[in-house]
Amino acid sequence: MEIFKNKKTLLDFIERQKEMGKRIGFAPTMGALHQGHISLYEAARKENDLVISSIFVNPTQFNNPADLEKYPRNIDKDIKTLEQSGFVDAVYIPEVSDIYPEGLKSKEYDFDGLENEMEGKFRPGHFNGVGTVVEELFRQVKPDNAYFGDKDYQQLAIIKKLTEKLALPIKIHGVAIHREASGLAMSSRNQRLSTTEKEAAKIIHETLVKVNDWFRVISIPEINKRVQDIFDEQRGMKLEYFEISDEATLKETDFFYKGRNFRAFIVVFVGDVRLIDNMHLD
Ligand code: PAJ
Repeated sequence: MEIFKNKKTLLDFIERQKEMGKRIGFAPTMGALHQGHISLYEAARKENDLVISSIFVNPTQFNNPADLEKYPRNIDKDIKTLEQSGFVDAVYIPEVSDIYPEGLKSKEYDFDGLENEMEGKFRPGHFNGVGTVVEELFRQVKPDNAYFGDKDYQQLAIIKKLTEKLALPIKIHGVAIHREASGLAMSSRNQRLSTTEKEAAKIIHETLVKVNDWFRVISIPEINKRVQDIFDEQRGMKLEYFEISDEATLKETDFFYKGRNFRAFIVVFVGDVRLIDNMHLD
């Protein structure tokens, strides 16, 4: 596996690969790699000649400095994980100056309102930070296909919008959420949970499964209330938000409309660790 630690060496490599007509699949990450990330590489491997990942903990997308500081980092372990997966040909580990030559500042994007829902409300500036780093990575890596997890469903929708608005010739693929046997969605942040917290956190997925059973049977305001009640009873956990939203607009709904697709979105603090999950409702 090739490892590029600066922009110049990456750009030379990409240019050579493009000249050879290689189809590039790309999955950007912030490291602390787990099976969820590997499922992106596995998907990329099937439809590209070359699979590239990046590892970059992007400062501008963290609205909370403590979250940025505590974000798990272990580059050597990540490189081993990538090599062992057997799916990845090259990894790009840029310097801050390779992404932000003019200093740590986000661009401002208009994602047609997608950025104002859910994570946009609770994490001001987050999607401008994500947009800035992903646009820059796309311009450097020049992938044909890029892979993002359904786990960050709003992020996936926003990246699709970014690609469309900037008319970038990149196909964006969503990859299903990879879960622990307990149902807990895999996340780099799970590393920060104690054994007891990790065990308790499975209630997040269990609740989403219940919501899917309740959907179309009981009213959405009643579902919202039941979810709040579940988390009010959990010690050491706090529900930040739960909503059922239209999959296309990401707007919260109180009613089920025929012909539209809906998804339940949830964010829970387990101790001081912020966990995010979602589920398509059928
Ligand atoms: P990170 O949290 O490292 O996630 C990288 C990619 O892995 C994202 O597309 C995310 O949705 C996906 N992913 C994480 N956990 C997953 C799981 N359990 N199942 C499936 N996919 C999963 O998301 C980011 O980094 C950053 O915002 C980034 C896009 C790299 C921009 O900085």
